[in-house]
Amino acid sequence: MASSPTALIVGAGQGIGLGFVRRFLESDRADKLYATYRDPQSPLLKISDPRLHCLPLDITDEAQIEAIAQTIKAKSDKLYTIINCVGVLHDSEMQPEKSLRHLNTEQLLHYFQVNSVGAVLLAKHMQPLLKHEQRSILATLSAKVGSIGDNRLGGWYGYRASKTALNMFMRTVAIEYRRTCPKAIVVTLHPGTTDTELSRPFQRNVPPEKLFTPDRTVQQLLTVLDQLQEKDSGEFFSWDGSQIPW
Ligand SMILES: NC(=O)c1ccc[n+]([C@@H]2O[C@H](COP(=O)([O-])OP(=O)(O)OC[C@H]3O[C@@H](n4cnc5c(N)ncnc54)[C@H](OP(=O)(O)O)[C@@H]3O)[C@@H](O)[C@H]2O)c1
Repeated sequence: MASSPTALIVGAGQGIGLGFVRRFLESDRADKLYATYRDPQSPLLKISDPRLHCLPLDITDEAQIEAIAQTIKAKSDKLYTIINCVGVLHDSEMQPEKSLRHLNTEQLLHYFQVNSVGAVLLAKHMQPLLKHEQRSILATLSAKVGSIGDNRLGGWYGYRASKTALNMFMRTVAIEYRRTCPKAIVVTLHPGTTDTELSRPFQRNVPPEKLFTPDRTVQQLLTVLDQLQEKDSGEFFSWDGSQIPW
């Protein structure tokens, strides 16, 4: 991303998203960096940098997505990079389902709301900011477990299926953007298993060399993003640049 003067990191309150913010500021990748968070105690809000503009966002509320788009538009007419790092696998009230008997409607819908619907509504409201003549990126963090072809282990019904839906949403966005903002490259990314709150309860069987620090993940994903070309729009990439089967 040689020219990425104005960027937006969504879900930057912790984990990989916060890692992107730190890296963008350290490596001077953005003149202006918008970053969203939910928790007012987030370490994001302790970063003091005139380039950084923090905006509160719960992605399950479309009015909030629209509001941040308006706030950004009032200050910047273009975005060059959007990286959406929002995702939920577990929280204090839910665990990924190991079998059919654990399924319930409310939990399944919550996975879809956070992991799939939020991302496509973000693509809806950010579209005007990507309508310009320079290369731009809309990247959304997905997960390899969302690959239907790669699913050999089963389990994690809601998380898996919501990431599959995310991949389909963003592929469809890529097709529409080809007409409406042809310079925008839309991809989903598998970050690899990364040491964050999201993966913490499930790290036991992960060999140390396969458990990345957020910083390493961010560097690897930026290498992938830097090499993307227009023909890559609509594809699903792993952290090493390889393509993941749908
Ligand atoms: N870590 C891994 O091994 C791994 C592997 C594959 C894919 N991924 C994907 O990578 C992405 C980043 O995950 P991570 O590892 O960095 O996890 P994380 O540290 O738990 O971060 C998840 C982020 O999503 C935000 N979020 C959750 N629900 C939200 C909502 N309703 N509205 C707005 N923001 C919300 C969280 O905000 P709060 O800080 O407010 O909770 C947090 O910033 C996710 O999409 C995840 O599925 C991660």
